[in-house]
Amino acid sequence: MDKLIEAARKAWQQAYVPYSHFAVGAAVLTDDGKIFQGCNIENGSYSMTICAERVAMFKAVYEGYHHFKAIAIVGDTHEAISPCGACRQVMTEFMQPEDQVILTNLQGDVKQFSVAELLPYSFSLKDDPIK
Ligand code: THU
Repeated sequence: MDKLIEAARKAWQQAYVPYSHFAVGAAVLTDDGKIFQGCNIENGSYSMTICAERVAMFKAVYEGYHHFKAIAIVGDTHEAISPCGACRQVMTEFMQPEDQVILTNLQGDVKQFSVAELLPYSFSLKDDPIK
């Protein structure tokens, strides 16, 4: 997992954050070992901002990957960073409940959770019984 964290730290350097000045980096790991990186990208119309996690996941999806076994996220936070609710929901789309979310900060603190731990009882059309 060190390689994934290192990729997230490199992505952190690419953040476009002229408004919040709060950079975030993320990296996802595919089943065949490929890594896709993302950073947060802000916009003057603030709500158009996209988080690092979704940039990493969407880049991978564009390249044809629909499942990630892990995602690492880094921010310059006192404790390991915690991902926002929207990104947790997107994780449930492309990760299994037991897949791993690795949360870190620049000092090297690490916390690890499963996707299900971060978003219990999540919404999904995949197991919707009414079809
Ligand atoms: N941000 C992320 O990139 N990921 C998160 O999980 C939380 C928040 C970004 C969005 C915005 O550019 C900045 O951090 C401050 O909210």
